[in-house]
Amino acid sequence: MQSRNDNATSETAVFLADDAGLTNAAKVLSDGGLVAFPTETVYGLGADARRSDAVAGIYAAKGRPSFNPLIVHVADLAAAEALVTFTPQAYRLAQAFWPGALTLVLPLRPDAGISALVTAGLTTLAVRVPDHPVAQGLLRAFGGPVAAPSANPSGRISPTTAAHVMAGLAGRIGGVVDGGACGVGVESTIVDVTGDPVLLRAGGVAAEALEAALGQPLPRPSGTAAITAPGMLASHYAPQGTVRLDAIYARPGEVMLGFGPVAGDLSLSAAGDLVEAAANLFDRLHQLDAMGAHAIAVAPVPEHGLGAAINDRLRRAAAPRS
Ligand code: TXA
Ligand code: MG
Repeated sequence: MQSRNDNATSETAVFLADDAGLTNAAKVLSDGGLVAFPTETVYGLGADARRSDAVAGIYAAKGRPSFNPLIVHVADLAAAEALVTFTPQAYRLAQAFWPGALTLVLPLRPDAGISALVTAGLTTLAVRVPDHPVAQGLLRAFGGPVAAPSANPSGRISPTTAAHVMAGLAGRIGGVVDGGACGVGVESTIVDVTGDPVLLRAGGVAAEALEAALGQPLPRPSGTAAITAPGMLASHYAPQGTVRLDAIYARPGEVMLGFGPVAGDLSLSAAGDLVEAAANLFDRLHQLDAMGAHAIAVAPVPEHGLGAAINDRLRRAAAPRS
């Protein structure tokens, strides 16, 4: 059952999300291997955040530029407090949204024991308490901090099912815990709380909800090309085909991804529901790849609520490829 990430030709185990599966998955992490697991946002590719050899395996499996720091996942607030120094505003956000789709960037404690490969040498750390029973079960079975970026090859679409993970990483990781489809469907919202709170990445918790909890406005990331979190590449979340945004109809040769009243070959949400659209987003992009679509037209999506995160991912999908 045990397998290691250091052999790219090894078998990737598919673990059931039961006690035996979680115990075996935790064993792979304890052995310094890589395990993909479901969170409420997307599947993460986990490694022991205290071991540089294990974390190096994440970068190798994803083919990820090594300057991109990783989010550390812990089971609860107490475990997060052992890693970072909380500010009053960070406590307010954690109390309102943890467990959940919110990542907080805070000063790293010198005694945290986190591998410098996780932070890419920064003095801050991104932490999150996921709200998914399988992620919680794995974190408790393992009993330590788990560094986990989305479980996809670098630059490709984030996975929201175990099948997506296997399509991108089979043979390159120790295993995947199959916990079904992710409910939120876009990555966590990232807020830098080292000083006055700043939104680094739109995500599964709407900025409006964060502002309500903070009682103050949250400065938004500017422009498409802005690298707001270190290593956030403009071309990211990319399907194989080119992407044209704000389309009302498909041009000849284009496959149309609809939303609300704008119909398509596929739709993010025929009802125009932004929560449903977020949950469907990456699955629709994977479907477009599977269809062999080489030109994709995407209907307009409103910018409020989860629309901000959806549009951020779509703009990255449409950005010029390097
Ligand atoms: O929903 C999610 O957040 C998923 C699931 C698996 O939890 N994870 C995820 O991780 O999206 P990843 O590695 O794909 O995105 C991490 C983001 C990057 O944009 C990175 O630059 C930023 O977090 N980040 C990490 N550490 C940071 C830090 N210390 N300061 C600022 N940004 C940081
Ligand atoms: Mg990612």
